[in-house]
Amino acid sequence: MPAAASGGTEVVAHRGASAHRAEHTLAAYELAIEQGADGVECDVRLSRDGHLVCVHDRRVDRTSSGRGVVSTLPLAQLAELDYGHWHDELPESADGLVLEPLAVPSSHPHSRGLLTLETLLGLLSDISRPVRLFVETKHPTRYAGLVEAKLVALLARHGLASPSRREESAVVMMSFSSRAVRRIREYAPQIPTVLLLDRLWPARRDGSLPPWADIAGPGVHLLHRDPEYVSRAAERGYDTYCWTVDDVADVNLCRDLGVRYLATNAPAATRSLLTDR
Ligand code: G3P
Ligand code: CA
Repeated sequence: MPAAASGGTEVVAHRGASAHRAEHTLAAYELAIEQGADGVECDVRLSRDGHLVCVHDRRVDRTSSGRGVVSTLPLAQLAELDYGHWHDELPESADGLVLEPLAVPSSHPHSRGLLTLETLLGLLSDISRPVRLFVETKHPTRYAGLVEAKLVALLARHGLASPSRREESAVVMMSFSSRAVRRIREYAPQIPTVLLLDRLWPARRDGSLPPWADIAGPGVHLLHRDPEYVSRAAERGYDTYCWTVDDVADVNLCRDLGVRYLATNAPAATRSLLTDR
């Protein structure tokens, strides 16, 4: 992937435009695209019968009308649940960011069902401009390794696993697990990778990454503590992907530090903040 010298900040819609729409629903991704996001982020897990589904938590309890552990439920059962109702009553706000009232109606019934990665890939291939997909593999112990293998196989079926150059890849793969990132590099060497960081391990403080990672992925809390981290990573040739940036001060900090990819729940508000200043 390009080093820090490349381009400006790219806005990545975290779980879709999830400040306005229930996370990981088709409605959230449609809105992110409508709001001009450069990229979209999603988390993937395996259902009991081996389908890649876009769900953040280990269980479906928080984000659906049902209960249970994703990896113990078959696709058909996961698909019976409503993934939008829990968000309907929430105020449309993200910390500190002014969100515009939306002209679009609240989640469409058929846009709030279970989202599979296959459906999300279909949505992204049907639009007229490139929107990069940042896929994060969650790793239930029982499926460690399999989720990455299934993901690469699915991308291969869609012609996305072997871009001629990493810089041109329509997909970026990410994990907090260095082992998972390593497996991704092994299975699909041309797909760029982000090593997500929720703390700066002593070995990573100098901005270095293992050879199988291309982009540094610190949480924004780490940049508040150690703003120099971005330039140390850049000196080593790494761009930075920062999550999850939903606060005016965070957006300004990321822009001033030269963060390349900015993951936010509110892409439109973030974009206007980046453009205005
Ligand atoms: O984009 C990375 C970020 O999503 C990691 O945290 O918990 O939201 O998956 P989480
Ligand atoms: Ca994630």
